[in-house]
Amino acid sequence: MTAALDEKMPRRFTDEETGEEGAKIEAFLHHFQEEDEEDTVSSAKISARNLNFYYGDQQALFDNNLDIAEGRITAIIGPSGCGKSTHLRIYNRIFQLYGNQRAEGEVLLDGKNLLDSGTNLIELRRRIGMIFQKPTPFPLSVFENVAYGLRLHFKMPKSELNGRVESALKKAALFDEVKDKLDKPGVALSGGQQQRLCIARTIALEPEILLMDEPTSAIDPVATRKVEELAEELKGNFTIVIVTHSMQQAARISDFTAFFYKGKIIEYGLTKEMFTNPKQKQTEDYITGRFG
Ligand SMILES: Nc1ncnc2c1ncn2[C@@H]1O[C@H](COP(=O)(O)OP(=O)(O)O)[C@@H](O)[C@H]1O
Ligand SMILES: [Mg+2]
Repeated sequence: MTAALDEKMPRRFTDEETGEEGAKIEAFLHHFQEEDEEDTVSSAKISARNLNFYYGDQQALFDNNLDIAEGRITAIIGPSGCGKSTHLRIYNRIFQLYGNQRAEGEVLLDGKNLLDSGTNLIELRRRIGMIFQKPTPFPLSVFENVAYGLRLHFKMPKSELNGRVESALKKAALFDEVKDKLDKPGVALSGGQQQRLCIARTIALEPEILLMDEPTSAIDPVATRKVEELAEELKGNFTIVIVTHSMQQAARISDFTAFFYKGKIIEYGLTKEMFTNPKQKQTEDYITGRFG
C-alpha cells in the first residue's frame, strides 16, 4: 500500500511553494501513508444529476453531478461562497422554506428523484437529517431535545421512549456526560456537547443520511475531535456528507471528497487520491493553500 501510494505521489511541495502550509500538507500525506487500504467500492445513496440552483435570478450551482457513496463519509470542500451549503441544502429540500429559491435537475435518493412534487417532505427530512454549523438545541431539557422528534414521528410507550433517548445519547457519545442532567436545559451544555446533542436528536429518528454543514467550526479542538470520531463511528450505519473548510478534517475522516469552485464540481474522487494526486490545477491550488 505504502509503495503504491508513493508512486502515485507526484512530488513533495516545497516550503517555498506552499509557505507555512508546507508542514500541514506533509502531515496530510503522512496520514494517508499510515492508513490501511479500505474497501472503497460502494453504491450511490444519493446522486445529483445536472443539478442547477438559483437564488432569484442569480445562479449559484452549475450542472452539479455527484454520487454520494452509501455508508461512507463524503467531504465537500472549496472556498467560501462556492456553493457547498447551497448544494447540501437541496438534499433535504430545506431551501424550500425560503421564497425565490429554485433547484433544477435531479437528486436521486435510492434511485427516486426527491425533487419530484410528490415527495413527502416530513418523511424526507426524517430520512435525511441535518446538523448545522452553530449548535441549535431546542429551548427544552436535554431529554426533551431528543424525545421531541421521537414523539412527533413515532407513537411509543414512555418506557420505549426513555430507552430510545438513552440509546441516541449513547450513539452520539454524550450519555455519560449528561446522564445526571437530563432535565437540565440543552442550551446549558458546552458548545461541543450541544453539537453532540443535536446529533443525538437527529440520529434518534433513525435517518439514513446525515448532512453536516461545517459542524465543528463553532466548537473547540477537543470537541471537534469528538465529533469527528463520532462521524467515523456512525459511518456504515449512516451515509454522511460533511461540508468543511478544514482540509485536515476532510483528510482525517472522509473516504471521498468533492471539490467545489464557483458553483461547479471541479473534481470528485477518493479523498486520498485527491489529496495526493489532484487531477485539476484548481484542486491542487486549493489544497496547497494558494487560494481559499
Ligand atoms: N439566501 C441567499 N440569497 C442569495 N444568494 C445567496 C444566498 N445564500 C447564498 N447565496 C449565494 O450563493 C453562493 C453560494 O453560497 P453558499 O452555498 O453559502 O457557499 P459556501 O457554503 O460554499 O460558503 C454565494 O455566492 C452566496 O452569496
Ligand atoms: Mg456554507
